[in-house]
Amino acid sequence: MNIELAQNSPSAISTEVLAVFAADASTGKAAESNPEIRLLTTDEAVQRAAQSVLTSGEFKADSCETLLLHGSSGLAAKRLLIIGLGKLSKVTPHDVRKAAGAAVRYLKPRGLRELALAAPIAEPLDAQRTVRVIAEGAVLADFDSDTYRSDRKDRSVQSVQVVLHNVADRASAESALREGIIIAESQNFARSLVNEPGNRLTPTVLGQRAAAMCREFGLDCEVHSTEKLRELKMGAFLSVAQGSDEPPALIVMRYEPKDAPANGPVLGLVGKGITFDTGGISIKPADNMEKMKYDMAGGATMIAAMRAIAQLQPKVRVLGIVCSAENMPSGKAQKPGDVQIAMPAADDKPGKSIEIINTDAEGRLVLADGLTYAKRLGATHLINAATLTGAIGVALGMINGGGFSNDDQTWSHFADGLKVTGERFWRMPVEDDYRELIKSQIADIKNTGGRYGGAITAAMFLKEFVEETPWIHLDIAGISWSDDAKPWLASGPTGNGVRSVIEWIRSYSS
Ligand code: BES
Ligand code: MN
Ligand code: ZN
Repeated sequence: MNIELAQNSPSAISTEVLAVFAADASTGKAAESNPEIRLLTTDEAVQRAAQSVLTSGEFKADSCETLLLHGSSGLAAKRLLIIGLGKLSKVTPHDVRKAAGAAVRYLKPRGLRELALAAPIAEPLDAQRTVRVIAEGAVLADFDSDTYRSDRKDRSVQSVQVVLHNVADRASAESALREGIIIAESQNFARSLVNEPGNRLTPTVLGQRAAAMCREFGLDCEVHSTEKLRELKMGAFLSVAQGSDEPPALIVMRYEPKDAPANGPVLGLVGKGITFDTGGISIKPADNMEKMKYDMAGGATMIAAMRAIAQLQPKVRVLGIVCSAENMPSGKAQKPGDVQIAMPAADDKPGKSIEIINTDAEGRLVLADGLTYAKRLGATHLINAATLTGAIGVALGMINGGGFSNDDQTWSHFADGLKVTGERFWRMPVEDDYRELIKSQIADIKNTGGRYGGAITAAMFLKEFVEETPWIHLDIAGISWSDDAKPWLASGPTGNGVRSVIEWIRSYSS
């Protein structure tokens, strides 16, 4: 998809489809029976073309509602697509992101490949922000996870123009557009990795994909395997990998801008990259097990965030670590009751001992060593993303991801970013009382805490390895995959979390 700014009046744009946003401007009690549909453009020819259908009451301007008109006189475009944004008084940039996506997904099945989106002009919407969210919505909506269908027809929308009537500041609009494209393309990159099945995306292949991305965008990258894990004494990570014939991959990506202050923060991103999770000896039931190819979504999130950061160039150092393995049962697999020694926090300290209660609680094991390694490589602030627990989906459904943090200031950096990205994470507790649930009789800690508060005890396990370093843990198990298509997004991998991790990093740019 090629996206450009067009500085023109919408009616003058000659294209297959001109899309214009509309909202319901009615307020108060009369609103239900008497909606007041307003087109968010100052273009009079467009207003005239839409007038009769808007006054007919057929179109309510509900969020992502669409209406198509053909051959309107006064318009250079062949078709006029009207897209709803809901109530005008409540319109957010995220509503615009979704509606722009809905326009692209309206075109795709119809084989239409050329779209012009008239940036909505309305009181609560800032022009820069609007351009960025339109770009994001359009790029994200163009993605479909149909790469393995032999009857696949490429229906991607080839050309998108973002139409701005009078641009006060062309350079800022261009950079907002570029930002939106970079961020959404990176999110799609994460989605394409998550979509890959376990037989095609092994830990080794994930390492190769990360390395190729780093080469393309000028990041340093190392990919290690078993030998290096042994050298680093990553006993927790190795214990998961040992059950599989596929070697693990420890992916280390570095972004080190010259203009970052020498004693400024080093942000450590850590991702869970389980390319398939059978549960191991504590094997999962067959129903839905195929979904466990997406158990590397946290790792994909961090690779994608690095991809965006390499292009956006914030002035802050970033270190990305992905711990990738396959969780398999075999004669070599670890067993419930086994005791593993995690990577030591320093050379002169012993690693923490872990009693394995359930081999299916493997994500926290690989992350424990990943977090320790990030600290040892100099990270001053940590963020990790993982499809860690089914329990987070029970707690929050598929709407909010779980956010956990040991530091209010670090969390507020993240929470501020959510307002920009439109993503949703709900902060969950990490309080010492929960620590009781992961005490072990024979080791320092055990790897499960029982059914109650399952997402929280998993977070408590990670916190044990983070120690005093400011840290955020994102449990994305409930929000990384969607069985249902949305008007603005295909079904399958969502890439949720990518935008907010990027925004969090940028908030530390000096
Ligand atoms: N990868 C799973 C969590 C998961 C579940 C992700 C559903 C996506 C959808 C994780 O490794 C796991 O198996 N967690 C266990 C932990 C339990 C054994 C304490 C779980 O949630 O059941
Ligand atoms: Mn598991
Ligand atoms: Zn898992």
